Amino acid sequence: MAANTLTQYDFFDADPARQERYMDRVCSFLSQRCDTPPLALVHSFGCQQNSSDTEKLKGMLARMGYGFTDRPEEARLVLFNTCAVRENAEDRVLGNVGALKAYKAANPELIIALCGCMMQQPHMAEKVKKSYPYVDLVFGTHVAHMFPELLYTCLSEGKRVFNLSEESAPMAEGLPVLRDNDLKAWLPIMNGCDNFCSYCIVPYVRGREKSRPSKEIIREATELVAAGYKEITLLGQNVNSYGKGLEEQINFAGLLHQVNAIPGDFRIRFMTSHPKDCTHELIDAIAACKKVCNHIHLPVQCGNNRVLREMNRHYTVEEYLELAAYAHQKMPDVTFTSDIIVGFPGESYEEFQDTLELVRKMRYSALYTFIYSRRSGTRAAQMPDPVSGEEKGRWFQELLDLQEKIGLEEHEAMVGGVYRVLVDGVGKTGEGYLTGRTESNVIVDFKAPKEIIGQFVQVRVTKARNWLVLGELI
Ligand code: 5AD
Ligand code: SF4
Repeated sequence: MAANTLTQYDFFDADPARQERYMDRVCSFLSQRCDTPPLALVHSFGCQQNSSDTEKLKGMLARMGYGFTDRPEEARLVLFNTCAVRENAEDRVLGNVGALKAYKAANPELIIALCGCMMQQPHMAEKVKKSYPYVDLVFGTHVAHMFPELLYTCLSEGKRVFNLSEESAPMAEGLPVLRDNDLKAWLPIMNGCDNFCSYCIVPYVRGREKSRPSKEIIREATELVAAGYKEITLLGQNVNSYGKGLEEQINFAGLLHQVNAIPGDFRIRFMTSHPKDCTHELIDAIAACKKVCNHIHLPVQCGNNRVLREMNRHYTVEEYLELAAYAHQKMPDVTFTSDIIVGFPGESYEEFQDTLELVRKMRYSALYTFIYSRRSGTRAAQMPDPVSGEEKGRWFQELLDLQEKIGLEEHEAMVGGVYRVLVDGVGKTGEGYLTGRTESNVIVDFKAPKEIIGQFVQVRVTKARNWLVLGELI
């Protein structure tokens, strides 16, 4: 297509019925031009929230008549849902977009579309506009539900379309979803973030917190259980502040009770929890709700109070440890995982040692560790950052080594124990192995017939490895 003119189409409309009409239009537009169903290559970068958004984009594509492929040479549309949380995520996206140039040259009909957090940043959209002229469609996070309309405009007008509208509305309901997995489902309960942690770009690119009405969440969860899903993960940037701004009187603890009350044999997980909003009431709810896994992903980010203050996290190490102690008291088998940032601007080696100390106390079952990445527009981006990347790399390795040791010890402590495992699929350990996850999300590989994939089974752990445990089916 002639992608040399541009439509800056910062129009916003919240009505899903309008998008239904555009889905029909795209469908008939394509059926007049393609002999076989057009194929789309869709790739999601970044977090689970993005994966969940991508499932909605794929649902809309399927409704518009697209099939799916992972071969760019046979695609008629490539859609990347991008991530902006760290610089290396953005570099990965740009590298992948660069590689599409040759496919566009070989097939001028190919539509290349970019959306998501990275595109919501005006400087990034500008960069794509100027330096990647073969990208046809760019849209931000607030208008993802308008994808059919934007795609139709791009196809029918033969122009590049950019929509970075900052206007937003409650999360769009009722649009189709094409899920990647038929056992485990993402269920977004809120979007956006009001916390403005000083290092984080998310509040700028996803906007203010918006919770979904509980009846929509319960409806979706009930449908998932009826469709045979065995694990539902409630998603949000800060699920603990669920309910803020809704007309109904509800908080996250209340929502957990409601989802737990849905009849059926399934598990409930949730992420991400912010420690500042994690209350005893919530921990009591996790303990009381039998379907809710006794596992809390509670990102601490670092273990030093001065750095936590600079990060704008609104809790102290002592408060965090108190919460963990309360959870252990209520649920002796509770496990924790966490996110940690190494090398926040101004962090000293001594302060980093406090993080190691906290990790030793918490004995996390897994850690997601990141070297601080400067995000332009955030408060931390203005702070002096004198420690070299090389030095931060050494600290990072120290943290990895410590966690590897703790992770292995925690896995060794599981040996001999019997755990309830949801069988996910075929394991990589060897011929005849299946793989599954315990409640605390530890991977268990064990020998068993494939027929039990998708079931809950009891497995005795026999051996510990670094990243998983081995077991035998009981
Ligand atoms: N640099 C490094 N890590 C970051 N995270 C968020 N922003 C940054 C950044 N600028 C990490 C946090 C968060 C996780 C999703 O990503 O640990 O919890
Ligand atoms: Fe980013 Fe903090 Fe919001 Fe999480 S809570 S998305 S780290 S600003």
